[in-house]
Amino acid sequence: MKKFFSLILVFLSIGSFAQNEPDDFLTSTFHKERRTLAREKMPTNSVAVFFANPVRNRANDVDFIYHQDPNFYYLSGYKEPHAVLMIFKDEQEGPEGNFNEIIFIQPRNAMAEMWTGRRMGIAGVKEKLEFNQAFNNTDFDDYNIDFSTFDKVLFYDFFDDVRDTQTEGDLYDLIASFKQKAGYPTEGDLTIESAANNLDMETLDQIMKDLRGIKTEAEIDLLRKAVDISCIGQAEVMKAMRPGMSEREVQGIHEFVFKKYQAEYEGYPSIVGEGNNGCILHYIENYKPEINSDKMILMDLGAEYHGYTADVTRTIPVDGKFSKEEKAIYDLVYKAQDEAIKAAKPGVNVRRDLDAGIARKIINEGLVELGIIESVDERHLYYPHGLGHHIGLDVHDKGNYEFLEAGMAITIEPGIYIPEGAKCDEKWWGIAVRIEDCILITEDGNELLSDLAPRKSDEIEKLMKQSSPLDSFVLPDLEKGK
Ligand code: GLY
Ligand code: MN
Ligand code: MN
Repeated sequence: MKKFFSLILVFLSIGSFAQNEPDDFLTSTFHKERRTLAREKMPTNSVAVFFANPVRNRANDVDFIYHQDPNFYYLSGYKEPHAVLMIFKDEQEGPEGNFNEIIFIQPRNAMAEMWTGRRMGIAGVKEKLEFNQAFNNTDFDDYNIDFSTFDKVLFYDFFDDVRDTQTEGDLYDLIASFKQKAGYPTEGDLTIESAANNLDMETLDQIMKDLRGIKTEAEIDLLRKAVDISCIGQAEVMKAMRPGMSEREVQGIHEFVFKKYQAEYEGYPSIVGEGNNGCILHYIENYKPEINSDKMILMDLGAEYHGYTADVTRTIPVDGKFSKEEKAIYDLVYKAQDEAIKAAKPGVNVRRDLDAGIARKIINEGLVELGIIESVDERHLYYPHGLGHHIGLDVHDKGNYEFLEAGMAITIEPGIYIPEGAKCDEKWWGIAVRIEDCILITEDGNELLSDLAPRKSDEIEKLMKQSSPLDSFVLPDLEKGK
């Protein structure tokens, strides 16, 4: 009878775990296949060692929300801290049979879980993530492994910024144990000569770029969702935009939409800058209390859905109508972007062909035509960043840039930023435009993923005329008694 009840309890606890999680995460099979592919790319007789991301302190006893290291997540599916994963090129002999991968994770702990949330524990990792060899991180120190027998020990170098939590087996301990076992130069003796000569901190990154740069169907499904959610945020803001709103309020509408669709996080801090603030490429203060009706507002936001992040920028006129100068700059950026998107296909180089060859050329010629610069060769800072980057588990995702290939997901994001005081007619000052879209490279071209948010100037103006459900969402005044 007792056995029967404990079985029911186990059943209930597994059931409640499942009920708490959405069911559209990447599967354990996905992660296992990624480990297999990584193994295939590893050099002979090598081992690859990956560490979970550190827990970062925000202030006093509050930490930042934990975010797993994207490589670690990609290869394991494990979302908790204080863990180390090893992938072996060749089968290793163990007392319970051969294995070629092993993970050390944080142990179950009823008290800790009551405060900070559920842990998978060894049983969960074995069952849900398909690891045969899973151990508590407290066992890593005693784990018998002779790294000197490998031709190469592959890992990412350390930043030495991990806090000692004083808990046995934490990331601090794992790294210290690894350094000692692998012959990584110790603090007092940082000479290259003191390091084991099989340590390799270069190769792994190329392997991860090769793998993560080409998305699987399952990854594309998650990316599509992240991008769609972000675009709906952009479109809803276009309808809701009113002069007098604050930058932060605009940010809040976007992020409410993200949450409404169950996106866990923002893939990067939201950028919402009116007028001249838009000239700061990564402006994240979003502090302006009242946005001005005769300005534009630049909004660069990406929902993160199950780890995958979008990156979509729209720039719109606060009062719903582009002025002559705003439209001239906007349409120029649009043309540069549209031509670059049309040309994006396998075999093309982003920096050489799409940026220098198309987008930058169109922007420079356009700026000359508008009298903002004098010659197409003039060095200027009105378009100071690159044209695009891979997106995925990182907003600036790992991937190769030499040639586009089918399955790559990238952004195309030209911009023109003319700050107050720039060396041109002051009618252009404070105009900042970035248009950023996400595309998926296909066999013969590309697919625009971010098509739910209008990007043509006349389409934006049209959508901004529509009413918004937020028009009637009026909150009470904060001052008491009013
Ligand atoms: N949101 C950062 C970027 O566009 O790259
Ligand atoms: Mn971007
Ligand atoms: Mn962006």
